[in-house]
Amino acid sequence: MHTAVDTGARRPAATVVPPARVAVAGATGYTGQELLRILSRHPSVSLTAAMSSGTTARRLPALARLWTGEIEPLSPDSLRNAEVVFLALPDKAAAEIAPALVDDGVLVIDLSGAFRLRQEAERARWYPETQRVPTGTAYGLTELARESVAAARLVANPGCYPTATLLAVAPIAAAGFLDPHADIIVDAKSGVSGAGKTPSERTHFCECHGSIAAYGVFGHRHGAEIQQGVAGALGESGEGQPVVNFVPHLVPLDRGILSTIYVRLKSGITEDALSELYQQTYGAAPFVRLVGATLPEIKHVAHTNFCDIGWRVDASGRAVLVSVIDNLLKGASGQAVQNLNLMLGIDERTGLW
Ligand SMILES: NC(=O)c1ccc[n+]([C@@H]2O[C@H](COP(=O)([O-])OP(=O)(O)OC[C@H]3O[C@@H](n4cnc5c(N)ncnc54)[C@H](OP(=O)(O)O)[C@@H]3O)[C@@H](O)[C@H]2O)c1
Repeated sequence: MHTAVDTGARRPAATVVPPARVAVAGATGYTGQELLRILSRHPSVSLTAAMSSGTTARRLPALARLWTGEIEPLSPDSLRNAEVVFLALPDKAAAEIAPALVDDGVLVIDLSGAFRLRQEAERARWYPETQRVPTGTAYGLTELARESVAAARLVANPGCYPTATLLAVAPIAAAGFLDPHADIIVDAKSGVSGAGKTPSERTHFCECHGSIAAYGVFGHRHGAEIQQGVAGALGESGEGQPVVNFVPHLVPLDRGILSTIYVRLKSGITEDALSELYQQTYGAAPFVRLVGATLPEIKHVAHTNFCDIGWRVDASGRAVLVSVIDNLLKGASGQAVQNLNLMLGIDERTGLW
């Protein structure tokens, strides 16, 4: 785990660097539109193309006066003209497009799940469309992967539930604080935009308004991603591996994720020890706010790139961690731009602060 934080510019101050040419595929989706909003005002990039599955060019009303360009039909050939391409596409389309772009020297930041899982068997189970993972792919949980993201050719941007959950639990696993014999329970709630813009029977207004529902029990691909993240963090401590029980819930909000994580700590690990660990890990991280026993709320992070983490520990070693993000920003497009900034070697906060 990388605890040192460097948010300062790495390019020499006297050098005039032209803006990086960036393009967005999937620009009409929920995460794609957030990307356009951020990138159109980002001082170090020039937004050269935005594409969707549509067959004719069109403008997005929400972007009037922010960005004057038109949304074009998807063209992998045109994407090659950019230095950096954001893919805000379904997994299958991203799996098909990304490897060839990387082969052509384009840096890719992929918001889909196509390249997130490292183990082939797990990837084949959850993302069967992914035929090839390019060399130089990094898992982009920014705060815990700064060096690998900065050097990557393809960044697999983490899922929204895994971002909220792993930022809270990975430091504890890496520090060797977890009781390896106790399961980790992740009880997470998401607003409806997490499912993308196309309504389904489950996400239709009349179905989710005034209700809360669990879904994907033992069968959600983000469970595999969280387990991978915990295993990776534990790898650094040399411990055995607790099982992650992940249960997502759909709540009647448009955006936001709250992940409540139940873990058991080794004997003698106190709330103060946890506070010290979080402080060491995130004390200088601009987008992680540590709120301790106050416990965080979705409304404090909605429309921001922050992840707020709170925690309580009782005398028997039971710990409850609560982590909140905006699924479309820290859980998708905001974190993707944070990763872009690291890849460009500029201040991590650029365009996001
Ligand atoms: N929503 C979240 O909170 C969230 C968080 C993290 C990661 N993600 C991931 O990010 C990706 C985008 O999610 P989203 O919620 O923004 O999805 P979305 O709202 O459904 O938007 C999908 C975008 O992809 C385009 N598209 C769909 N199929 C295409 C194809 N075959 N060729 C070209 N373009 C195509 C759509 O264009 P049209 O408008 O023309 O249909 C639209 O622009 C997904 O992989 C998702 O799993 C989402």
